[in-house]
Amino acid sequence: MQSPRREALDLSTENKNGNMVVTPWEVSGEIDYNKLIERFGTQPLTQELKERIAKKAGFMHVQLRRDVFFSHRDLDWWLNQYDAGRPVGLYTGRGPSGHVHLGHLLPWFFCKYLQEAFDAHLYFQMTDDEKFLLRDDLTLDQTIGYTYDNALDVIACGVKPGLTHIFSDTEHIQHIYKLGLQVSKRITFSTVKAVFGFTDSDNIGLTWYPALQAMTCFLQSYREGRNVACLIPAAIDQDNYWRMTRDIAEKMGYYKPTQIHNKFLPPLTQGGKMSASQPDAAIFTTDTPELAAKKVMGAFTGGRETVKLQNELGGRPEICNIYAYYFYLFEEDDAKLAEIEKQCRSGALVCGDCKARLAKMVKVFLVDFQEKREKAKARLDDYLLK
Ligand code: TRP
Repeated sequence: MQSPRREALDLSTENKNGNMVVTPWEVSGEIDYNKLIERFGTQPLTQELKERIAKKAGFMHVQLRRDVFFSHRDLDWWLNQYDAGRPVGLYTGRGPSGHVHLGHLLPWFFCKYLQEAFDAHLYFQMTDDEKFLLRDDLTLDQTIGYTYDNALDVIACGVKPGLTHIFSDTEHIQHIYKLGLQVSKRITFSTVKAVFGFTDSDNIGLTWYPALQAMTCFLQSYREGRNVACLIPAAIDQDNYWRMTRDIAEKMGYYKPTQIHNKFLPPLTQGGKMSASQPDAAIFTTDTPELAAKKVMGAFTGGRETVKLQNELGGRPEICNIYAYYFYLFEEDDAKLAEIEKQCRSGALVCGDCKARLAKMVKVFLVDFQEKREKAKARLDDYLLK
């Protein structure tokens, strides 16, 4: 989606000649994560911090081991709060504009891990208002419908009832509007224009919306009447919101929200690059296992044109989307992953076999996930904000 906002946002125009774009509305091009750390002014996730988390959890999550989570802001402070016995909480969210794909699940699985490790509440915001305001092709009823649909995916990730509070901006407005107002009073139009690149032709709903996304950083504190340190596990494209929120937090008597950022799961099509959404580029949790397997079989790989060339020259896992799927999600066993890489580079493993192996794993995953999703329907109410 090409929007005037993107043009106005200097974070992306800075990049006109290169091709990486990372904004709340668009992620495209070849992503250079070191550059993102520099540009957004965050810190790389160190081994020491990863180990501090692993110690609480009892094991190091594969997403930490493989640097899928790669950057943070003030995570050390958040961990210190926890170590000092002070309350900590988690916050993440989703813009319900369609079905959920595997890339969305990365931070949600990680939230489940953190929730268990720190026995923390998770506030999960469904921004059906945002997606309605942003998209000309979606009605409000549709985005609200996706809120309830996508909530099943969140629950299927294994988060805990009682500790998880999923809410819709529209349907749960009575729980969030007052705090949203407190936040919005401290943000000027000129700030949101500078941070998000809004222009005169954007609707005014969009210019208010950032107050609601910021509000959730303080929601647990507000509800409990005490200061809770909020950690946001999410992809780095939402960073504009958190920079804005951090500027007003202390004025409101709350802690600045802290963040831990994950990389994007690459699409199945297109060599290593992020692209605007195409149905074949992603596996949705609602795809039939057969359709998902077909998408895997049709994916872009780092292979050569012919089996003969593949045997001679070897494949290129570093640009292969199939390898990325193993790496990010499907092959948690480091030794097996290393074996795939070795066999690929040597030319012994050809793409057809490698894809077929992944397709099988994706099918198994989906059958199990869809069963959990089905079960979640009857338990949805236990997870909604009260
Ligand atoms: N704006 C996000 C989106 O479009 C949704 C969202 C709201 C979110 N709060 C969040 C995402 C916190 C990550 C963390 O998807």
